[in-house]
Amino acid sequence: MKKIILIAYFSRAGENYMRGKIVNLEHGNTEIAAGTIARLTGAPVFRIVPMNEYPEKYKECTEAAQKELMDRAAPQIREYPDNDDYDTLILGYPCWWGTMPMPVWTFLRNTDLSGKKILPFCTNEGSGLGSSIDDLKRLCPGAEIRSGLSILGADVKDSEPAIREWLHAENII
Ligand SMILES: Cc1cc2nc3c(=O)[nH]c(=O)nc-3n(C[C@H](O)[C@H](O)[C@H](O)COP(=O)(O)O)c2cc1C
Repeated sequence: MKKIILIAYFSRAGENYMRGKIVNLEHGNTEIAAGTIARLTGAPVFRIVPMNEYPEKYKECTEAAQKELMDRAAPQIREYPDNDDYDTLILGYPCWWGTMPMPVWTFLRNTDLSGKKILPFCTNEGSGLGSSIDDLKRLCPGAEIRSGLSILGADVKDSEPAIREWLHAENII
């Protein structure tokens, strides 16, 4: 049976921390990885956009994100996909404080993913997938959570071979 895939991701451009120093990213690392996955699969891409954007400054953003995580906040997102006729969700996010940013939690809480497969990919500065897989399992109890792909944000532009290998192992390409 042909797989119907949706790529959904959250990513934040602006100031970030890469290889030990502050840099200014025109396009977020996860956005770049999502673009590579879209090119390799031909699948449509949905961007998870919070109603209130995070601060451009890295330090302010980490503080806002930490508070949201501690409060288990539910920041609203601008929109949801038009339909749910996909059977495989390729879900991308940066690692924030060891897990997914809270807008991704909002997306998952308000989307029925039972019976669907989720393939997570996470760009990060060294924490790998953190606790995101456990969090995903808790948030999406009826979904099949496949092994995730961790991508070092600083290496995202060279990550196509690893992405290709992962998608191949998951029978996506
Ligand atoms: C708020 C915030 C928290 C972060 N927390 C972590 C972390 O816990 N572990 C880690 O390895 N990287 C952390 N990072 C670095 C990002 O995961 C990394 O730069 C990622 O590639 C950014 O993706 P994006 O450009 O798509 O947003 C954090 C960055 C931000 C802005």
